[in-house]
Formats: sequence, structure tokens, C-alpha cells
Amino acid sequence: MSQPLVLHDVASLRGQLAQWRRSGETVALVPTMGALHAGHVSLAALAAARARRVIVSIFVNPTQFAPNEDFAAYPRSFEADCARLAQAGVDAVFAPTPALMYPPGFATTISLTGPAQAGLEDRFRPTHFAGVATVVAKLLIQSMPDLAVFGEKDFQQLAVIRQVTRDLDLPVEIAGGPTLREADGLAMSSRNVYLSEEERASAPLLHRVLREAASAIEAGEPADEILGYGRERIAQGGFVIDYLEWRDALSLGEPVRERASRLLVAAKLGRTRLIDNVGVRAGGDA
Ligand code: PAF
Repeated sequence: MSQPLVLHDVASLRGQLAQWRRSGETVALVPTMGALHAGHVSLAALAAARARRVIVSIFVNPTQFAPNEDFAAYPRSFEADCARLAQAGVDAVFAPTPALMYPPGFATTISLTGPAQAGLEDRFRPTHFAGVATVVAKLLIQSMPDLAVFGEKDFQQLAVIRQVTRDLDLPVEIAGGPTLREADGLAMSSRNVYLSEEERASAPLLHRVLREAASAIEAGEPADEILGYGRERIAQGGFVIDYLEWRDALSLGEPVRERASRLLVAAKLGRTRLIDNVGVRAGGDA
């Protein structure tokens, strides 16, 4: 098991990439904010199945957190992350500093419409996706990978990144990796460490409600009633709900039963905000 190279600046990143490129090797990037769990490792495995070289970036991006959010408290575990990535056979870790990503005088932010304004995360985190899109565009331009892999757990984020990549003609394929779950269905997330023991026991309700609602929609039951009932159950389970919505899987706009769609949820349990989503099969596919 070899340790991944740890690169802290763009010149060394590009130097390493140039060496791989000269040998004709393909490269995949997995952007993360660290505090890695099995879900991230599965994204690295997906990247390794598609490209000869895998780079994982670890950068807790300040611009995607609002002032009232958990930037300072966000879990950081760089040494453990590198050990995990060594086991996963990752070739390099790119870990820039905030000063490198946002030097004094930095003045550019990507402005978004389309899936970034779907009325989901953006309603509750209005500045979030501009920060995500800007940092992801920078990471893609810094590394110019053939492929970049993102988790489907952040489903709206994935749609936004696909849109940005298309609109800016960035020559990279964007791949989504399925959400990894704990045995009781809770979606793996770096923020799950915030949950108290009692909250951890309640948290799988979100996925249960999503699954049951997806089955009911697939069975042709009225969506408004299903969503209303789902919201009630989530609130009764001790969550403060931000949204439970049913959307088209591609545009995140209004769904139709004839096309693949998605149920998406965000809710707070104590001080922890959890998000999750599941697919809803198109009528006729079931
Ligand atoms: O999903 C994340 O971890 C982050 O939003 C990302 C894509 C690494 C950008 O900071």
C-alpha cells in the first residue's frame, strides 16, 4: 500500500499531471471537503475503475458556507483521510490552503440560474451553490481531469455542476456515485458525527419516509397527499423540515410520472441539518 502524494499548490499538481499525461495516463478527480467516510472511498473506487490515476482534493471551501453555518466546526481529519486514501489506492491528494484558492484581491464568482434555483437547497442556503460552482470550476481548471466524480447524495449540487461544466465547455465528464448508507438506511455524511446518540437513532426515519413515498408515487398514488403525509411523519419524528419535494431527475423542475424523477428532503435534527434523496422510477419501468 503506497501513500498518496500530497500536493499543496497548483504548480506541483500540474507538474504531476503533466508527468502522467506524458505517459498517456487518464486522470480522475474526486473533489471532497475531507472528513472522509466509506461514501467518499466508494467515489474514489468509481474513479479508479474509470481512470488510471485518481486525485482526491481535500478543501473545506469557506465560500459555500453562510456566516451562520458550520464552517469553523466542520470536521477536519487530514491524517486519517490520507490513511484511508492510501488504502483505497488513490495516487494523489490535492490539499490547497484558503489563501491559495482565494488570494487577496480574488473577485470572481460564478453566477447561476437553472438547477441552482430549483427552490430546494437554494431556498435555505442562497449563497451556497455560487461558492460550490466557483470552487469546483477552479479545481477542474487546476487539474483538467478526464473525469470528475461527485456523490448523488448532494443531488442538486450534482445537477448544478453538470450544468456549469456544460455551460462553460469544461472538457471533463461528470459522473455521479450512488449514496452509501449505514445498515439502518441513514445516508453517510461527514456531518453525521454531529448527531447525539438519541438523534442518531431517529435519523434513519428520513430515508424510510423517502423510500415509502417513492413506492407510493410509483404505485400511482396522489403525490400531494404522499408528500403532505411524509412531511408530517418527518416533523413527528422530531425533525424541523426544510423541504420534502418530488422533482424531475434531470431538470429538478416539475416531475412527470413518465420520466425518472427524484424525491429530495432536507431537515434539521437538533443542530444537524441532514439531506437525502432517492430515485422514483418512471411509470412503466416498475
Ligand atoms: O460535496 C462536497 O464535498 C463539496 O461541496 C465540494 C463538491 C467538494 C465543493 O467544495
